[in-house]
Amino acid sequence: MSILIRGGTVVTAEAEYQADVLIEGETIAAVGPDLQAPQGARVIDATGKYIIPGGIDPHTHFELPFMGTVASEDFFTGTSAAAAGGTTMCIDFVIPSPQQSMMEAYKNWMGWAEKAACDYSFHVAVTWWDDSVKQDMHTLATEHGVNSFKHFMAYKNAIMCDDETLVNSFKTAKELGALCTIHAENGELVHVLQQEIFDKGITGPEGHPLSRPPEVEGEAANRAIRIAEVLGVPVYLVHTSCIDALESVTRARLEGQRVYAEVLAQHLVIDDSVYRNTDWDTAAHYVMSPPFRAKEHQAALWKGLQAGMIQTTATDHCCFCSPQKQAGKDDFRKIPNGTAGVEDRLAVLWHHGVRTGKLTPSEFVAATSSNAAKIFNIFPKKGALMAGSDADVVVWDPNKTRTISVDTHHQNIDFNIYEGMEVTGNPAITISRGLVVWENDTLKTVRGRGQYVDRPCNAEFWSSQRKRNEAAEPTKVDRSSGEPA
Ligand code: URP
Ligand code: ZN
Ligand code: ZN
Repeated sequence: MSILIRGGTVVTAEAEYQADVLIEGETIAAVGPDLQAPQGARVIDATGKYIIPGGIDPHTHFELPFMGTVASEDFFTGTSAAAAGGTTMCIDFVIPSPQQSMMEAYKNWMGWAEKAACDYSFHVAVTWWDDSVKQDMHTLATEHGVNSFKHFMAYKNAIMCDDETLVNSFKTAKELGALCTIHAENGELVHVLQQEIFDKGITGPEGHPLSRPPEVEGEAANRAIRIAEVLGVPVYLVHTSCIDALESVTRARLEGQRVYAEVLAQHLVIDDSVYRNTDWDTAAHYVMSPPFRAKEHQAALWKGLQAGMIQTTATDHCCFCSPQKQAGKDDFRKIPNGTAGVEDRLAVLWHHGVRTGKLTPSEFVAATSSNAAKIFNIFPKKGALMAGSDADVVVWDPNKTRTISVDTHHQNIDFNIYEGMEVTGNPAITISRGLVVWENDTLKTVRGRGQYVDRPCNAEFWSSQRKRNEAAEPTKVDRSSGEPA
């Protein structure tokens, strides 16, 4: 099946220009002026619209077993909701339980993901350490296309990594040319603060942000970055939510260290007043980690994105319905952590970013798609509109307005954190590897059509990581002379 998208404005991370896009089968065949429609091709008129690469959400958790329950969104419903919002690829997380074999966990997630409607890939979490984990990192990187490993510095007594594990894993990632990704919160501090706050009688959702202040994130972010600096590995901070963490990223980048940062759409536009909602259920729906922050952090995050200190946007889509949140009715520490938004990221970013002049359309494409493809080494297969790229394409209508609501969203959750927000700029048509999966406000996704995307390691690129002390080769000293031995 061929599709010719005619008359639109192509927007990539690099440029914005008038061109047609020809899709043959699952790939883009040509991008250029006045392309001819092959016999039998479907012709889409994109006059007045933008043609952009499908969004890549580098941080989702479909059907994640977590905090005694399982996230309600599965790989089919999740990738379908993503498509409704213009996202055509998600990078989800394999998270082994402590002592569980990494390969076993990876196989579980691969099985669950078989129902995905759009393409996907996996970061794999390092949640404990021994030689088998090291071996499995090698196997995943060399045989299964995994080039990123996740480290949770929070969630003590569950999936938290201590410094020893961080160091072992970072060293292994360096050997492999893989990227280390980080959930930066000091889990020891969170644990202590949670107890203190609970002991003071604060048991509701408002206790959640009190136990995870910005300093807790800033400390962990800086520690991870410094460990990476010493070992000479690149790092990628997921869900950077506050000034404290952003300052560490900024300092390191200005010193030439290869540090990447991701921000969640929700952290850009929602503040911590949500925890003071008089309705427990509503407040509990905003319990995620790191928590929503005071407004000054949002302003800083926008600037970080504009300045290029933050490269990617994500959602950390992790759905828990009201009955699941009820597990923490009497104790905020037991509220399953997670919020949804895979469907709304692009529209929120366009409305609050592009329409306000903070981002150009090209910067929007970079932040929602191309930068993730580049960082996770799948560009230009993904994140690009080039001959040979996968035909993950969105016809974006900058004038289409929608009011976000649980009543109309496609996410499998009974709440929407953006409820009532009017957003202008929405997908008119989403195409996933050549198949129209969203048009006329109707989903046409096909269960199981999504494919696993291999992400090769890049040892050459990562090994160019600058190390502050790299010029100084370790030298033994001759004690009699004080000179190099
Ligand atoms: O609260 C969150 N973010 N839940 C999902 C797990 C994680 O930390 O990313
Ligand atoms: Zn996290
Ligand atoms: Zn997450």
